[in-house]
Amino acid sequence: MGSSDDVKIGVAIYDFEDSFIAEVRDAIAVCSEGDVPVTIVDAAGRQQTQNEQIEQFIKDGYSAIIVNSVDRTASGVIIEKCRQNDVPLVFFNREPVKDDMAKWDKVYYVGADAVDSGVMAGRIMASYWLSHPEADRNGDGRMQFVIIRGETGHQDTELRTEYFIETLLSAGIMLDKLHEDTTRWRREEGYDVMASFLNRSGDAIEAVFANNDDLALGAIEALQERGYFNGGDFIPVVGIDGTPTGRKALENGTLLGTVFNDAENQGRAAYRIAKELAEGRVPTEEVIGYSITDDRYVWIPYSPLPGKAAEE
Ligand code: BGC
Ligand code: CA
Repeated sequence: MGSSDDVKIGVAIYDFEDSFIAEVRDAIAVCSEGDVPVTIVDAAGRQQTQNEQIEQFIKDGYSAIIVNSVDRTASGVIIEKCRQNDVPLVFFNREPVKDDMAKWDKVYYVGADAVDSGVMAGRIMASYWLSHPEADRNGDGRMQFVIIRGETGHQDTELRTEYFIETLLSAGIMLDKLHEDTTRWRREEGYDVMASFLNRSGDAIEAVFANNDDLALGAIEALQERGYFNGGDFIPVVGIDGTPTGRKALENGTLLGTVFNDAENQGRAAYRIAKELAEGRVPTEEVIGYSITDDRYVWIPYSPLPGKAAEE
């Protein structure tokens, strides 16, 4: 089907346990059906494992590699290795620094603009706060909030957090950050971190921003155990991703809102670019169906997803 037999694409994933990445992975697999085949491997959160997997792809004659790096600062080493062997690369979701991207012209990045997601999450929280005076539980005219961060060093953790806060401030909301803690993006960590915030500050917490939906869902569970939701008090929690479970929480009125992170289009764009490179062509916008900026970047837009609670 339009591809020669020996062409194949390797896909190196940072961690199969990550819910959002699982969606991108599925999208890549669907695209490859009846087309250039893919082999998808799991680094289970270890950069060393991923480096070995990439070396193996090179040895086994893969024609292009899609990489979701464990540690994005390790991208330079991967690029160098692939450049020496002329195996083109498409990174996604964990963005290599510009200097690394500049090392070779057969390196692409597919992602979503982290700043936009922070701004959109901030707007959902701001509009709720401004239209619900009762959200200021202690009536001091300020929002006492907590942040559940993703991994340190991830562009999405840093920029989502920064622009969420910045958006609330520019809406004229006065803020007191009570707590902030770092995680590895997982639901059970969202639960643990929120439970510990609640132990420390209890009902003083008026709002929660979690860097992704899994963390937000874990936080909601901890809040439910503490008597919030289901008939108890509402507390605004905002996440990012719009995963299937995140969307259910929008519907049942627990999650105030989220920001849709388009896994399917990120997977499809990465696959199409990798296929062009694997078959020895320079990817064009016409063929891949996505705009390419700064020569080798494809940005898939975010969009706000307010939940049922945001409409009340
Ligand atoms: C997603 C998170 C995910 C992370 C993995 C982010 O863009 O929002 O859910 O855990 O990427 O790198
Ligand atoms: Ca307050």
